[in-house]
Amino acid sequence: MKTATQSAPLDYSIIEKMLTHRSIRKFKDIPVDEVTLKQLIRAGQSAASASFVQAYSVIQVTDKAVRQQITKAAGGQTWVEDAPEFLVFCADLKRVEYACLLHDAGKLEGYTEHFITATVDVALAAENVLLAAESLGMGGVFIGGIRNDPQLVSDLLKLPRQVYPVFGMCLGWPAIEPDIKPRFPVEAILHQDHYQSDKVGDVVNAYDKKIQQYYADRSDNSRTSNWSSETAQAVQSKKREHMLSFLQSKGFLKK
Ligand SMILES: Cc1cc2nc3c(=O)[nH]c(=O)nc-3n(C[C@H](O)[C@H](O)[C@H](O)COP(=O)(O)O)c2cc1C
Repeated sequence: MKTATQSAPLDYSIIEKMLTHRSIRKFKDIPVDEVTLKQLIRAGQSAASASFVQAYSVIQVTDKAVRQQITKAAGGQTWVEDAPEFLVFCADLKRVEYACLLHDAGKLEGYTEHFITATVDVALAAENVLLAAESLGMGGVFIGGIRNDPQLVSDLLKLPRQVYPVFGMCLGWPAIEPDIKPRFPVEAILHQDHYQSDKVGDVVNAYDKKIQQYYADRSDNSRTSNWSSETAQAVQSKKREHMLSFLQSKGFLKK
């Protein structure tokens, strides 16, 4: 087994904290103060950014009526309405377009590459925000459900062209302690030198057994199911066919 080579003992405390991640959907009735929230966003901003474009914006949604409408659009996820903080993470090429115009470099023309850049940038920043929150004992959950009705969310938040809502995030202090969901074994995810297609079946079958046990045993929301059936159901029921035309209307994915 390969080990890291350095004389000082490795500090695993951050990794140990990361391994305790679980989404939180029920929160204590304690507000997140402004200083803490800004620190979390600052931690998000310290994520790497492709070509340093920083192609994202975050909308803090405080308006109750807007929260209620987003809750409804997200399929009645009450934690969107109830969480002390609800943030909408947007991929944002508006500042980037401004930079191009400022330097007579032409308008952005909806290249797929730029869509990927902005979407990856916002995801990296958001995960940093959640990790930073968890490092303080807070918790949260991503809300992809806002893409059920991205036009409504966009209208409510007054998002201009070149900006689209990628996901929301509820944040606050956990009122429950859900079990940690076991991930695929590292060997299933980490391939040596080339992609090992031949192990997919075995990996999924073994993991199904593990997750079936986890679902049966867990303290909250116990059920009879496994990873592959949940995944198949999830992807087939969440195609969100409106996304392509919505994104194109916002100036993305035209080329
Ligand atoms: C982009 C993204 C969107 C998600 N959307 C939702 C959502 O709309 N509602 C929800 O309750 N959880 C949502 N989740 C949370 C996942 O269901 C959760 O991360 C996954 O089941 C693993 O569980 P864990 O986070 O507790 O380990 C989302 C997660 C990600 C990364």
